[in-house]
Amino acid sequence: MVVTSQRQPTSADAREANRTYRRTRLPRPYPDPSAYQANLKAALESDPRKKANYERYLAARKTATPDFLPIKLDIENISRCNFRCTMCQVSDWGPKFQRAEDMALEHFKHLIDEQYGLVEVKVQGMGEPLLQRETFFEMVRYARSKHIWVRTTTNASLLHFRDNYKSLIEADPGEVQISFDGATKQTFEAIRRGSKFELVYDNCKLINSYCNDRGLLKTRMWALVQQGNIGEFPEFVDRAAEMGFRRLTYGLNLTDWGQAKWADANKAVTAEDDVTPEMAHAAMDKGKRLGVEVTFWDVTSKYSAESADKLCAWPFERAFVSSDMKVVPCCIIANPEVYNLGSAQDFNGVWQSKAYQRFRQAHLDGRIPKVCELCYIRPAGSGKPPHAPTDVGQDATSRPAKDPALDYE
Ligand SMILES: C[S@@+](CC[C@H](N)C(=O)[O-])C[C@H]1O[C@@H](n2cnc3c(N)ncnc32)[C@H](O)[C@@H]1O
Ligand code: SF4
Repeated sequence: MVVTSQRQPTSADAREANRTYRRTRLPRPYPDPSAYQANLKAALESDPRKKANYERYLAARKTATPDFLPIKLDIENISRCNFRCTMCQVSDWGPKFQRAEDMALEHFKHLIDEQYGLVEVKVQGMGEPLLQRETFFEMVRYARSKHIWVRTTTNASLLHFRDNYKSLIEADPGEVQISFDGATKQTFEAIRRGSKFELVYDNCKLINSYCNDRGLLKTRMWALVQQGNIGEFPEFVDRAAEMGFRRLTYGLNLTDWGQAKWADANKAVTAEDDVTPEMAHAAMDKGKRLGVEVTFWDVTSKYSAESADKLCAWPFERAFVSSDMKVVPCCIIANPEVYNLGSAQDFNGVWQSKAYQRFRQAHLDGRIPKVCELCYIRPAGSGKPPHAPTDVGQDATSRPAKDPALDYE
């Protein structure tokens, strides 16, 4: 184990060792296994087309032309927010922090009906999903009526309003992540601009008591570690326990949404390399004492172009649909103004389009598209992912290990 002090500059070697440790040794978040598996079974039994699609997915290799429909989608119900967090691209979206119109319920339902292969959706993208009120709850209910596992993430600012916390839990999502990026009022409000710490704190207690009283494991606190809050790293576990969370995940990376401006801004405040194994283990130990399962999400540098089974799975089995019904490669880009594969009104046409095929083929050939670079391993010192030799396509014939529950983004 590499020992580094939080505030001292770390050497490149120690940084690399910490990275490897984080990626390979720290526990990662996972959905409630029994609930997830029971739901998957019910979903596959509910529709023979879903089962056949899923079997084709399981049997498939990564290719430019998948013979199955996506098994997961991120569906952004809304692209506007009531906060303007320092590290989030929504803060750039004009005076109203809004990129586009909200998704219409009929568009959502049409997508769910057409995409019979879905076993999981995340109903949320950029923006605060609860701003869409009843339409959002109806979306969750509609997906659940098709036995689709639903996840969402909220800033918790509206949970108290009109008993939203009850409506949300009663819509029966598989998991509700709640973003909580500061263990003190000062830090929280400095990062989550426009928020009120006490309100979010009380709302978390509200939804957690509602779940805990009913024996429901639905919520997860998500703390996005950055320079502005790393000094409170251990205290996040205390806050989680006080608010009644039973799961806490430290998100360790800041994405750049495929944009140079955000790459620079977030590079300046990232703290992932300051998270040492000692800090992580101390948090896990404290979590054990306080009844909070502590896990870590390390999304960048997770993929490698060296073989097909190490490529990002998104282009081959999953997509992000923006609130204005555009198909975007993934939730790390999450913005059709950065990468737009086509209109989700014709999702199936887009899924098999030449543009999507070229995007997939570039991955298979090891020509990792620029917008995807952040998620690929950079050899020490290079700052860039390897652009693998063109024979990577050969590896596309090897079958990747598949467990949809493990791909947690
Ligand atoms: C974009 S928000 C949307 C949902 C909701 N508004 C919220 O904040 O929970 C989803 C998650 O992305 C996280 N996030 C924001 N900016 C990020 C960045 N640059 N890199 C990684 N995650 C980020 C937020 O902290 C939150 O947990
Ligand atoms: S609350 Fe969520 S969507 Fe809104 S600015 Fe913050 S991270 Fe972005």
